Amino acid sequence: MKSIVILISGRGSNMQALLEAQLPCRIAAVISNRANAEGLNIAKARGIATAVVEHRDYADRDSFDAALAKTIDACHPDFVALAGFMRILTAGFVERYRGKLVNIHPSLLPAYSGLNTHARALHDGVRIHGCTVHFVTPDLDHGPIIVQAAVPVLCHDDERTLAARVLHEEHRIYPQAIRWLCADQIELNEQGRVTFRYHQQSGFALISPGLE
Ligand code: GAR
Repeated sequence: MKSIVILISGRGSNMQALLEAQLPCRIAAVISNRANAEGLNIAKARGIATAVVEHRDYADRDSFDAALAKTIDACHPDFVALAGFMRILTAGFVERYRGKLVNIHPSLLPAYSGLNTHARALHDGVRIHGCTVHFVTPDLDHGPIIVQAAVPVLCHDDERTLAARVLHEEHRIYPQAIRWLCADQIELNEQGRVTFRYHQQSGFALISPGLE
């Protein structure tokens, strides 16, 4: 059976979705860069091994990433899932886990990488927003896309309501992406593209606002 390590920095709702999804893999550990990340308690309560690698204890990104890699490698995971892990990773770290490191981001990448994605989407007046699971490359919040979910932006939305609608979909697509990875249904090929062995394609369009 394959195994994964999940990296978090805070609340851990995506981590929780992965823990509850009964994935066909072992969750080897949950690792946080913050000792007070709420998600650590959720993992502990479910009997999952946890570890903390405090970024503030390290002088620079290289030494933090080296310590993080050492903690991850001690678990021998097949895949590493970033679930609200809010640290920029060095190119060396990302390369070390090429094809094994995935991230979830609350926007339809390549739009709105970085922070405050929902506020920026509302400010721009886009009618469709969403979330993305992708392989991680040294480019922050970019990289070959595995799966995306689109949601409508409704006329009365504020940041909170839009974030909740997107988060609901995050909790659906991340477990699916990990399931595909663990079943060898997808991989990152030499050309840096995601290849699918099998997937269902929906023929539906999301039109927002809806047509009359
Ligand atoms: C999630 O919305 C995730 O997509 C986002 O942080 C939130 C973490 O929430 N990640 C990023 O912005 C990565 N650039 P969670 O801790 O409840 O999963």
